[in-house]
Amino acid sequence: TTTHSRLLRAELLSFDADPGEGDSPAEGSVRHLEDGALWIEDGRIRAVDDYARLAPELPEGMEVIDHRGKLILPGFIDSHVHYVQLEIIASYGRQLLDWLNDYTFPEELQFSSREHAEALSEAFLDELLRVGTTTAQVFCSSHPVSVDAFFAASHRRGLCMLAGKVLMDRHAPAALCDDTEGGIRDTERLIGDWHGKGRLGYSLTPRFAPTSTRAQLDAAGALMRNDASLWLQTHLAENTGELDWVAELFPGSRDYLEVYEQSGLVGPRSTFAHGIHLDQEMRGRLAERGANLAFCPSSNMFLGSGLFDRLAPRDKGLAITYASDVGGGTDLSGLATLKAAYQVGQLRGQPLTAWQGFHGLTLGNARALSLDDRIGRLAPGLDADFVVLDPAATPLLARRTARCRSLAETLFALMMMGDDRTVLETWAGGRRQHRREP
Ligand code: GUN
Ligand code: ZN
Repeated sequence: TTTHSRLLRAELLSFDADPGEGDSPAEGSVRHLEDGALWIEDGRIRAVDDYARLAPELPEGMEVIDHRGKLILPGFIDSHVHYVQLEIIASYGRQLLDWLNDYTFPEELQFSSREHAEALSEAFLDELLRVGTTTAQVFCSSHPVSVDAFFAASHRRGLCMLAGKVLMDRHAPAALCDDTEGGIRDTERLIGDWHGKGRLGYSLTPRFAPTSTRAQLDAAGALMRNDASLWLQTHLAENTGELDWVAELFPGSRDYLEVYEQSGLVGPRSTFAHGIHLDQEMRGRLAERGANLAFCPSSNMFLGSGLFDRLAPRDKGLAITYASDVGGGTDLSGLATLKAAYQVGQLRGQPLTAWQGFHGLTLGNARALSLDDRIGRLAPGLDADFVVLDPAATPLLARRTARCRSLAETLFALMMMGDDRTVLETWAGGRRQHRREP
């Protein structure tokens, strides 16, 4: 880490509140500086202001990086992704349960190897940084070594990451299943080694109800009750075949969500991926506990899971987060996630504005994950995690954005057309960790 002080001059955009669903952002929700200055020092943001206002205060000889013509936003956050599925992204043509058996479980078996886990951790983090994602909530495999490898790689890079060991003690190949108590003991060891170390946090990770016994879900709930600083990630109501299976496996639960409630797994730091097939009453129960639903639009379309209703949770005060869900998702890029969210929204008559989308990828995800005291905005005291976007990254994008007459139009073009080429640089912990090759 460097203690060195630097200034970046660029157009800056950061959210201070939810912009709402309107074409124009709610009053006071957006901070936009056309010729802005971002002053970073010791891995943190020291000041954010108009360049002309900050320039006279700068120490003599300070390094100024001139990014005029580029747009800086807080680093993107991915609330739900599986690093162990990186290499099975885009595996053809099945719905959830077949896809798990045919591609996912065989792939995850490889993560019993430390060398494999280390190599894929590095490759995954390289890919995240290439698309501007600086924080993610990550499923590892059921092997503790897959978690050690991922946290170690993240720690070396100074990244803010949440992750956990998959708990699964049934209904998968024997070599992928843990045993009920052993999985919990391994989880406790991993929490001790990694939770709160540097910028890392532990997320309890029961895969989903069908692959854990009630005893294992209860034990995970006990860990959560014991330490309110832990996160929890799992899957909920993604696919109708999954719903039927859960009803069969847990006849004592009124609905899928109640399976998790009965084990005490629903809390303010719980992320439930998908949540497509829920009713308003269930959404209300999630909202009451302060949990969030991870909307994974590219995954939902790829696996044919369904069209997520983005506005119904909002009516209940239930937070949603934006996520790639790679390898079910087809793209790690947050921009691609927003494009897919827009498309799902169109099919439901609820198109996503660029304001809502970019707020979601940054402050929205940070808040819902209780990380907004550290990341999600360009503001003094927060960690210096940000992305430098190039609105002229490709010839066609340059043509399109040259026509844009407002920030809203430019942002919308970026979310529909953007990809890894749009990300000129990614900074995390005050260091430039990715620069696009020319
Ligand atoms: N449900 C249980 N496991 C998984 C998984 O790995 N991916 C997705 N998309 N859904 C799941
Ligand atoms: Zn998932």
